[in-house]
Amino acid sequence: MPLAVQVLFLATERIRPGEAALACLAIIAVSVALAWFWLMNIQRLADALRIASEQGDPLSAPFRAPRLPAVKDIEDELLRLARSLEARAQLEGQLRAADATIVERLPDPLIVLGEDTTPLRANAAARRQFGTRGESAGGELGALLRHPALAAAVDRARAEGRPQTTELRLPVPVERDIVAQCIPMEPPLSDGGRLVIVLSDRTEARAVERMRADFVANASHELRSPLASLIGFIETLRGPAEDDAEARSRFLAIMASQAERMKSLIDDLLSLSRIELSEHQPPEGSADLAALIRAEVAAVEPITRGATLEVTVPETLPVTAADATQLSQVLRNLIENALRHGKPAGLVRIEARRVVAGPRLPNRPGVLLSVTDDGPGIPKEHIPRLTERFYRVDAGRGRASGGTGLGLAIVKHIVNRHRGQLLIESELGQGACFKVWLPAE
Ligand SMILES: Nc1ncnc2c1ncn2[C@@H]1O[C@H](COP(=O)(O)OP(=O)(O)O)[C@@H](O)[C@H]1O
Ligand SMILES: [Mg+2]
Repeated sequence: MPLAVQVLFLATERIRPGEAALACLAIIAVSVALAWFWLMNIQRLADALRIASEQGDPLSAPFRAPRLPAVKDIEDELLRLARSLEARAQLEGQLRAADATIVERLPDPLIVLGEDTTPLRANAAARRQFGTRGESAGGELGALLRHPALAAAVDRARAEGRPQTTELRLPVPVERDIVAQCIPMEPPLSDGGRLVIVLSDRTEARAVERMRADFVANASHELRSPLASLIGFIETLRGPAEDDAEARSRFLAIMASQAERMKSLIDDLLSLSRIELSEHQPPEGSADLAALIRAEVAAVEPITRGATLEVTVPETLPVTAADATQLSQVLRNLIENALRHGKPAGLVRIEARRVVAGPRLPNRPGVLLSVTDDGPGIPKEHIPRLTERFYRVDAGRGRASGGTGLGLAIVKHIVNRHRGQLLIESELGQGACFKVWLPAE
């Protein structure tokens, strides 16, 4: 444009050619300088953007202040854009972190699989239950994912795009029953996860189911044998032994003891179910444990069969929040066990005292009852199972001795209801010691 004006001036002879040439040169020089200045500014902007993008943070490399206003505007806009991108990235990061935290802290084990079904991550519960070693390392998690039932459910879920549930049993390191839910993720998770496996351990629930079934079977079995013997004797008395007075009186004595056995079994079953029903409710009354011990010892005196009962208790030993009838039941079961399973004509020591703390005892004030005998003791491997219903160290002998096999189960439930603790200590050949700790103010 300025050049065109020069040419016009020259044509109309307003300026001389020499002046025109000078003016043209000046104009070209100024234009080149301006263009160079622009280019430098844009170059600086480009450099700043390149550094920022290389460092992955648009705000990390400050622009070297361009001097041209137009370029300065572009710089401002870019900065604003960078800030809003940064804010959005931060928000996305926060959402992703929240997502990961929820998954991580869910109480159920959870495994996220990627596109090719390799495990991407396992949450804390899954790592706790199945270890941290993945498929390639051949860890427990790998074994779980290779389980045919689970692999089939994963394939079905991917093929059908719908959640699939399957049950599996893991044989090692301990047998576990697991229910696995395979949930396909569409769209995929932020980390690329295409499938989520939620696992729940049903081992305990299955064990409870099995125990219930076992219990019914055991109870029926325990009742059936005395009943069968009663029926047998009734038939004999009606037939072959009808006129045999001596046999009749012998059989009747046996029948009476079998009927007695059935009665005590039914009594124990009933009291066990009653105690279980109220187990969640702590008792409200109070009791004097010393008086209860003296009363129980007096009650078993006729059946000690030569054994000596040695009682060491203070004058009174009040227990608050206690059910006196149930505590008597505990005492009777433990004393009867010591007499029944201890040494014939042996020594049974019954002690009770206040305690504040002690080895294996809660660190609170309480009372400690102990019933110790000098009998054969109990092999170690049986001790943890003694409180199971119908569990006996020697089934045949236990039954013959007249026990129902429910005594210690009843003791355990009563102690639980009193928020106390039952401790069983025994060395083979050194007798057994049953301790009951109850809270007391
Ligand atoms: N003082 C003891 N000494 C040795 N074994 C014992 C003692 N007390 C209990 N046991 C064992 O624990 C088992 C379970 O006891 P319990 O539940 O009271 O049933 P029961 O006395 O009717 O057999 C007994 O069969 C016996 O094998
Ligand atoms: Mg017993």
